[in-house]
Amino acid sequence: METIREVGALRDLVRSARGSGRTIGYVPTMGALHEGHLSLVRLARRESDFTVVSIFVNPLQFGPNEDLGRYPRKEADDAAALASESVDVLYLPDAAEMYPPDFSTSVEVRGVSEGGEGETRPGHFRGVATVVAKLFLQVSPDVAVFGQKDLQQVSVVRRMTRDLDFPIRLLVGPTVREPDGLAMSSRNAYLSPEERRVAAAFPRALFEARDRAGRGERGAAELSENVRRELRTARLDPDYVDVVDPETMAPVEIAAPGTALLAAVRIGKTRLIDNVLVP
Ligand code: PAJ
Repeated sequence: METIREVGALRDLVRSARGSGRTIGYVPTMGALHEGHLSLVRLARRESDFTVVSIFVNPLQFGPNEDLGRYPRKEADDAAALASESVDVLYLPDAAEMYPPDFSTSVEVRGVSEGGEGETRPGHFRGVATVVAKLFLQVSPDVAVFGQKDLQQVSVVRRMTRDLDFPIRLLVGPTVREPDGLAMSSRNAYLSPEERRVAAAFPRALFEARDRAGRGERGAAELSENVRRELRTARLDPDYVDVVDPETMAPVEIAAPGTALLAAVRIGKTRLIDNVLVP
């Protein structure tokens, strides 16, 4: 595995891989890698011949009162994990190179960026779309892999990829969970042992709603109210519980098959997100 910090060197490697007839697979991350990230790396490896993974804690997608400063950074462990997955290139862009002081351009994906995370975290998806557009242009992959864990992010990236004609095929990997159901997340590291124990009620509430919807209890308002009640009973503080069409992120009244139940909760100082799809 080659570790690269400079975009010119990255382009050279990708050009020569492509020149020898290989397709390029790409997984963007912010590091502190866990099995969820690694499952996407394996998917990229299966679907392409040359795999690039980036680690970049993107300041643009963090709000002023968010956790940019304390976001976990584990470069050495991450590099070792990626090397054992036979990744070809680890790209670690430098923040000053990504965003020079007079950086003035942003990518705004209207509609799908609103509601859900977009409402609680104004500017978040502008930061995500802007960095993903830059990374797509730097890496120029044939295939890029994202996790269903961040469902609204997938919708934003999918829409941007279509609207701006990026010649990139997007793949979505399923959410990888801990044995008690909690979706793996770099932010789970913030939880105290007690908070971590209580956090299992979050996926449980979503699974229960998914099962209810699957059995025909399809009223979105009731489903979302049930989830809120379950969360409060477990002493979790729901931020939003939305029932939406995952393509458009528009709220729906009836949770038909394929509808997404999307939620965020606060546990102490930590904010976690998760989602399930109605079968
Ligand atoms: P990060 O949170 O590091 O996540 C990188 C990728 O891993 C995303 O596509 C995310 O959906 C996926 N992922 C996270 N947890 C997962 C899990 N438990 N199971 C499966 N996939 C999971 O998402 C970002 O970084 C950033 O916003 C980024 C796209 C890199 C832009 O900065």
